[in-house]
Amino acid sequence: MDDFIAGLPKLELHLHLEGTLEPALMLHLAERNGLTLPWADAATLTAAYQFDCLQSFLDLYYQGCNVLRQEQDFFDLTWAYLERCASEQVVHVEVFFDPQAHTSRGIPFETVLAGIEAALQQGERDLGISFRLIMSFLRHLGEDAALTALARTEPWLDRIHGIGLDSSELGYPPEQFIRLFARAKALGLPLVAHAGEEGPADYIWQAIRQLGVRRIDHGVRCSEDPDLLHFLADTRLPLTVCPLSNVRLRVFPTMADHTVLTLLEQGLCVTINSDDPAYFGGYMAANMHALVAELGASREQLCRLSLNAVEASWLNLEAKARLT
Ligand code: ADE
Ligand code: ZN
Repeated sequence: MDDFIAGLPKLELHLHLEGTLEPALMLHLAERNGLTLPWADAATLTAAYQFDCLQSFLDLYYQGCNVLRQEQDFFDLTWAYLERCASEQVVHVEVFFDPQAHTSRGIPFETVLAGIEAALQQGERDLGISFRLIMSFLRHLGEDAALTALARTEPWLDRIHGIGLDSSELGYPPEQFIRLFARAKALGLPLVAHAGEEGPADYIWQAIRQLGVRRIDHGVRCSEDPDLLHFLADTRLPLTVCPLSNVRLRVFPTMADHTVLTLLEQGLCVTINSDDPAYFGGYMAANMHALVAELGASREQLCRLSLNAVEASWLNLEAKARLT
């Protein structure tokens, strides 16, 4: 099974670049930028990765973002992730970045975009990894801030492939972001949103019906609503599921409780992704290994999950045909 997982072509559709900041790189960038972190070394930092909910993780995630200052920092972050992808046979990535987490600290949007994009282009050229870049908005800052951020990035939107919605979910339902998504749609951008990670199934309905998303990030709480399950199975509207993340953030008590294979067998277009792998204990291959070890996933199911990712991706038909 190890060789099978290693060799299986993979696509990653739910990945926060800032969540790939490994402890060693965080410490290195802090030193390079003359910053002092509250953790002396990588072991102390890793020991702090004990989360009891999404918010407890986000508090640390935004602290980590603080070491990202220069274009080179964003390049190094993205490049390290792509090298990891290459080592795990990840052939296509659709990645998020959180511009507001950086512009709010005075880092120009151009600096962030230039570093990330240069690494993604080099990854496509040298590692053969195709990509899409999704600009995500932070729900906890509210819709007005997101609309302002979107307006400020309009000169660069031809280099952005989609719009997402992430950060604290409870208390920030999708219906609070209707104007933001209408504006992004008018600009011609494909739309996705985190929903049904900690929030209820109704947030998933809101994202679909009121925001018009073409993919749901997480979405695992769909199991609580039979009508939603039927809808997702009928339409094949994809869910980008992140098993290790869900267990680390206590969405499920243990991996043995995870419902991703049940959803797969119910005919939903579920895919496997790593979300914030530096914080949650593993990249794509580790997520697949966990499904095998704890849920007894078969080779055929892993293949189907990968094929679902091809279906759910924003690759063109010709590229999809090459992968199937
Ligand atoms: N930002 C980074 N990771 C996230 C997650 N799992 N949920 C919501 N926002 C996030
Ligand atoms: Zn996420």
